[in-house]
Amino acid sequence: MPGFSFAAMSELTEKLASLQQRLARALETAGDERALEEARAVYLGRSGDVAAIRRSIGRLPAQERPLAGKEINDAVAAMEALLERKREEIASRAIDTALSERIDVTFPAPEPRLGSIHPVRRVIEDACAYFERHGFAVVLGPEVEPDYYNFDALNIPPEHPAREGFDSFWVDETLLLRPHTSPMQIRTMQLHRPPIAIVAPGKCYRRDAVDARHHFQFHQIEGLLVAEGVHFGHLKGMLTGLCRALLGPYQNVRFRPSFFPFTEPSAEVDTTCPKCGGGAAACAMCGGSGWIELGGAGMVHPNVLREVGYDPKRLSGWAFGFGAERLALARYEVDDVRRFIDSDPDLLEQLA
Ligand code: DAH
Repeated sequence: MPGFSFAAMSELTEKLASLQQRLARALETAGDERALEEARAVYLGRSGDVAAIRRSIGRLPAQERPLAGKEINDAVAAMEALLERKREEIASRAIDTALSERIDVTFPAPEPRLGSIHPVRRVIEDACAYFERHGFAVVLGPEVEPDYYNFDALNIPPEHPAREGFDSFWVDETLLLRPHTSPMQIRTMQLHRPPIAIVAPGKCYRRDAVDARHHFQFHQIEGLLVAEGVHFGHLKGMLTGLCRALLGPYQNVRFRPSFFPFTEPSAEVDTTCPKCGGGAAACAMCGGSGWIELGGAGMVHPNVLREVGYDPKRLSGWAFGFGAERLALARYEVDDVRRFIDSDPDLLEQLA
């Protein structure tokens, strides 16, 4: 824009003021970044209006030039500020638009999926509730145990071959992930005077190969009753009641002679197959035997009572340790323990 001429500073001031006004008006209708850039080019660009004014400074008397330069710089700063304010306005409007585009508040929301109690947990809770109804207390203990609680105090001395059978994960020389909940028998009897009536549910660990019936992490429910005059008949009655409470009113229990160092006599405990009711030769759940194995039980060994300072001549007791997953397999007719840890929401929902 050649030929800018002004007689005095006042003319320069006026020109700059009117440029600012025109820019402000132009920006009122600018709706996006591109419109801003165009306005900047017209007013502040290299061949824009302000540049033309700056080139004309040379025509002013030498002593007025510095002041003119300052006025121009101030005007440029004011115009830059106008542009910046507009840029912020456009950006925040863009965010608002994007938000209102993405969220359609009238669109029907997906149905929330309700969680449920895990079947193994439910079995444990129901078993505990059954024993609580009969006056037992529920106790919980550590998953990492010293070998004293896990073996020695349970009548399994260091060189005893029964230690092998527990296939334990050792943390160091004397600490292990408990392979059964039986240490809770010792912990409870050391802390309390008889009579003792407890159930102790919890996680256990064994170096077992994983298959449909075994996992390296599983749950047991331990039970212990110690008092005067406790006998095997009480055990049989309580375990029959447990199976009926959890699996149905027609359940029976069967005791098979067995061996555990901490009980004498010892037994493996089975319950009627709830799927076939104990008869079908081709039942997929019990393999036709009619029985499902739940765990071990027996009368507390006198050495165990002596270890905690109880007098085996005066006191007797029974104990059992059942696999919670075994009870859950029987109750929910699931064919593979691995399904319990798959976190498959469809299965959990179906069993809920
Ligand atoms: N602790 C045994 C195991 O895990 C099961 C067991 C057997 C527990 C007999 C008991 C018991 O309390 O009396 O193989």
